[in-house]
Amino acid sequence: MEEIHVFAAIEMNLESRIKLQPYPKHIAIIMDGNGRWAKKRGKIRVFGHEKGTKAVRKIVETCVRLGINHLTLYAFSTENWNRPKLEVKTLMRLLISSLKNEIETLQKNNIKLNALGDLGSMPLKVFNELEHVIEATKSNSKMTLNLALNYGARGELINCMKEIGEKIKKNIISIEKIDETVINEHLYSRNLPDVDLLIRTSGEQRISNFLLWQIAYAELYFTNVFWPDFTDQHLYEAIENYQKRERRFGKTSEQLN
Ligand code: IPE
Ligand code: IPE
Ligand code: MG
Repeated sequence: MEEIHVFAAIEMNLESRIKLQPYPKHIAIIMDGNGRWAKKRGKIRVFGHEKGTKAVRKIVETCVRLGINHLTLYAFSTENWNRPKLEVKTLMRLLISSLKNEIETLQKNNIKLNALGDLGSMPLKVFNELEHVIEATKSNSKMTLNLALNYGARGELINCMKEIGEKIKKNIISIEKIDETVINEHLYSRNLPDVDLLIRTSGEQRISNFLLWQIAYAELYFTNVFWPDFTDQHLYEAIENYQKRERRFGKTSEQLN
């Protein structure tokens, strides 16, 4: 009992400590390690995905409580279709049930849902549920939760170039006018602010085709914790680590001071 009490006190301390400095405005997370989490417990991979959805709810609620503006979660990559059929099917089922169950959490916390990826190629049931929740939460304004679904950064860039190319062909845009703003307007993420902090769980240190354009100047944070075990405390640690960094954007330290 006492141990829990002490742990709660440390947690409070860290939360109040990170409040003293600016938070990252946009946090993106590669939620990885569900399968290994389950395997370690002698369970099938799907068990890890189920447990992972609980971690999603907790972290979403914590981010909105902290006042983070944008949270982007990598939920399903274009490469994830190559997994065993049954796993893909279960992931889609989990997605639908999470959307159905969590709409209340989103409304209660004033969170707007947004999705990025090749959404039109998702199974119709997922697409419809997604549309429904996006529509229902469109006026919410405390935080935007961006779900990367059937997402691949290279696919996003290809799509962006095609859209811009079409507009050039129709004389809607001239080549000279193409700049970062124009690119941003044609990404799946449509005008999403740059990512400040990118977190990847499970010990892997790679990007796996996530947000290549948007993370150009993000701070990267890798932790060995498997996603289902990722708690508020781990998030605070990541934010604290971020706050200790000096973001120079090409300038010198002296210029910043
Ligand atoms: C992340 O966990 C969830 C998805 C990619 C959908 P994984 O399923 O990749 O878990 P590991 O990496 O195999 O442990
Ligand atoms: C990245 O994780 C995709 C998601 C978290 C949705 P993966 O587990 O699919 O990535 P790789 O295959 O290990 O690079
Ligand atoms: Mg993985």
